[in-house]
Amino acid sequence: MLTSPYENGDRCSGGLAMTGARESTEAFEAIMSDVDPPSYVVTAAAGDDRAGCLVGFATQCSIDPPRFGVWLSKLNRTYRVARTSRTLIVHLLRDDDGDLAGHFGGETGDDVDKFAGIDWSSGPGGCPVVERLDWFAGSVVDQVDTGDHVAFVLAPWGGRCQRSGRQLSEAELGDIEPGHPIPGR
Ligand SMILES: Cc1cc2nc3c(=O)[nH]c(=O)nc-3n(C[C@H](O)[C@H](O)[C@H](O)COP(=O)(O)O)c2cc1C
Repeated sequence: MLTSPYENGDRCSGGLAMTGARESTEAFEAIMSDVDPPSYVVTAAAGDDRAGCLVGFATQCSIDPPRFGVWLSKLNRTYRVARTSRTLIVHLLRDDDGDLAGHFGGETGDDVDKFAGIDWSSGPGGCPVVERLDWFAGSVVDQVDTGDHVAFVLAPWGGRCQRSGRQLSEAELGDIEPGHPIPGR
């Protein structure tokens, strides 16, 4: 059972037929509730400000040139820092990283320093690199307002991939109360 706060409604029962119901988002919501995306920690830096949060809305979106999209909620501190950040860092969470998921998804940098007490260093563009995780950097080549989240389109470069283990999927995260409210709820 998915526990993501981004989950909408019941899982698909296999019996939902919505032909002709163009205005309804029921089928969309049922299908999305069956999708189990990977989990990332995305960090940003602008001047002396640094930020980072748990992200499920993220995907490769071009092969040539290589591009990766990260969607940040307008409510999050990470979004506010990312607005003027020329680089973002995308870290992949693996199956033993549940503690970091809770830390970066359940706390907001508006209230706590998320980088106190974890092993990190300053990476490309001054963005924090969480030492335990695999990561790549990306230059922000576009920002697209898609609604309550903004897409940051990244041109990837650099990074590190040294770990093994499965990705940590959203379904495995358990109940994380997001540090900032979920848009629309
Ligand atoms: C499962 C899960 C997925 C999330 N996905 C996203 C996401 O894709 N984009 C986003 O901006 N926030 C997402 N969040 C919410 C932020 O991680 C959370 O509100 C965080 O506390 C914000 O921290 P900040 O204010 O320091 O940026 C997600 C939270 C959870 C629990």
